[in-house]
Amino acid sequence: MAGADVQPAGPPTRRPSVERLQGQPLRARLRRALQQNTRVRLLWRALGENRKAADPGRSSPNGGAGRKCLDFACGTGRIANVAAGLFGEVVGADISRPMLDCAQVPPNVRLRHIDMTREPLGETFDVVTAFRFFLNAEDQLKSDALKAINEHLKDGGRLVCNVHMNATSPIGLVCRLLNRLSGRTIRHTLSTTAFKELLTASGFRVEEMTPYGYLPRPGNLLPGVCGALIEPFEKVSRTLRVPGQLAQHFLVVAKKR
Ligand SMILES: C[S@@+](CC[C@H](N)C(=O)[O-])C[C@H]1O[C@@H](n2cnc3c(N)ncnc32)[C@H](O)[C@@H]1O
Repeated sequence: MAGADVQPAGPPTRRPSVERLQGQPLRARLRRALQQNTRVRLLWRALGENRKAADPGRSSPNGGAGRKCLDFACGTGRIANVAAGLFGEVVGADISRPMLDCAQVPPNVRLRHIDMTREPLGETFDVVTAFRFFLNAEDQLKSDALKAINEHLKDGGRLVCNVHMNATSPIGLVCRLLNRLSGRTIRHTLSTTAFKELLTASGFRVEEMTPYGYLPRPGNLLPGVCGALIEPFEKVSRTLRVPGQLAQHFLVVAKKR
């Protein structure tokens, strides 16, 4: 097997039992598993509700006790922790040893120190998550990462990822203007159209693109106020059918072709 296993930092956090979670209704399961992080909770809930609407009988988001998830570029394990409550087995892979050394994950998460664009893990997965990765990756790295992810998915497996600065959102437009005025990239942006093209060219079929984060987040200004306003702002925006182009982030579900 390629790469090196990494021991999680500190005592592992308690793993919510997948079997126990599966006996509960979808909403309860997601709520239970996604307590850690407001933004993550929002986006997984969006995914869960979309899938439920499309197919009420289906377990979402493709989790289950017998299923495996890879968290690509897992960093300190933020998303791997969420996936741990929804999948029987999770592998968190990252190129940065210092990031992995800080990760605190439950026992059903294995951490691997590896550059998957250069060497394979030697196993395949039902779902690959990749959060806060594609926006800042150079074009070549984006393509290499998508190729590696595609090769690590089982037939019909899905990539679930996000882009955290939508080029058409108000803050995205400000970033693009600043980039143009300064003649350099101060902050990366990516549009749904450009990312969809890249995914399609990399062997994926985009199934869903879910906008979220309608409340403009001007960096770390007023984090408490912004944090408290996120959920009501999200609800109102959805009720009023505010166009998705204005949301600052988007979540993507893409199936391996
Ligand atoms: C912004 S962090 C995101 C961490 C995590 N996914 C999250 O959402 O909290 C980006 C991560 O990508 C990792 N990374 C960059 N290039 C990589 C590569 N070629 N293979 C695996 N991980 C990579 C970095 O080490 C870093 O931990």
